[in-house]
Amino acid sequence: MENWLMLLLLAIAFTGKAVVVSAAAAAYESPQFRVVHLESDFEIRLYMEISWMTALVRGTSFENSTKRGFHRLYQYLQGANRNSTRFFMTKPVLTSIIPSQRGGSPSSYIVRYYLPAEYNNKSPPPPSAELNLQLDKWKSHCIAVRKFSGYARDDNVEKEKDALGSSLGKRLMQGVDQNQYYNYSIAQYNASKHPTGRINEVWIDVSGFADEGCPV
Ligand SMILES: *[C@@H]1O[C@H](CO)[C@@H](O)[C@H](O)[C@H]1NC(C)=O
Ligand SMILES: *[C@@H]1O[C@H](CO)[C@@H](O)[C@H](O)[C@H]1NC(C)=O
Ligand SMILES: *[C@@H]1O[C@H](CO)[C@@H](O)[C@H](O)[C@H]1NC(C)=O
Ligand SMILES: *[C@@H]1O[C@H](CO)[C@@H](O)[C@H](O)[C@H]1NC(C)=O
Repeated sequence: MENWLMLLLLAIAFTGKAVVVSAAAAAYESPQFRVVHLESDFEIRLYMEISWMTALVRGTSFENSTKRGFHRLYQYLQGANRNSTRFFMTKPVLTSIIPSQRGGSPSSYIVRYYLPAEYNNKSPPPPSAELNLQLDKWKSHCIAVRKFSGYARDDNVEKEKDALGSSLGKRLMQGVDQNQYYNYSIAQYNASKHPTGRINEVWIDVSGFADEGCPV
């Protein structure tokens, strides 16, 4: 079970058409952005519009919820949709952490598959109903991003989020309501089979950050 996401990502990497090029050279599509502000330990990116296929998962574990959500998305990618369309894997797999209303541990997660850019202007095929997936379109907006290496785990994601929140508070956004960056997301770029050279990111929505050309 530990290596579930690894096997899955691996399976996709090798069953997609991308297999005709070498696995190392396989290009994964990712959402487009421009860096509008750079600091030593974080940056602010202006993302273009992003369309996600998403799985809402009720749970208390980031790792378990990401696996469960990704399992549903994986079936969609493999053709469990109205047109039996198969999709390439894209990067990153994003997990949004939704805090419980009462504070304390999160109670739900939204696991997201980035839909290739061709779906910006057309609807993706509707998912099979039993997968209970939703399309979610993000308008162009700014996101503060902090990178971290290793594996994204239950015991480090919140710490990374707090570090980003603290850097933002110190250097850019004094006086900004803390609630502004209460929701956060974890972006994972690598299959679990890679123990080193892994890239993950914490994302915090900073739409309210009006400088530097971020849309409000
Ligand atoms: C995650 O799932 C594993 C395997 O099902 C289970 O043993 C573990 O308790 C779960 N962790 C949490 C925090 O729910
Ligand atoms: C799904 O198939 C229908 C009928 O063949 C077609 O009209 C539609 O454009 C397809 N939708 C997508 C998203 O590919
Ligand atoms: C957090 O995310 C949830 C689900 O997308 C949304 O309903 C809620 O408004 C968000 N809260 C904030 C403070 O952005
Ligand atoms: C992890 O993903 C990043 C971003 O796509 C990539 O540049 C890097 O080479 C990957 N690392 C490994 C070990 O595959």
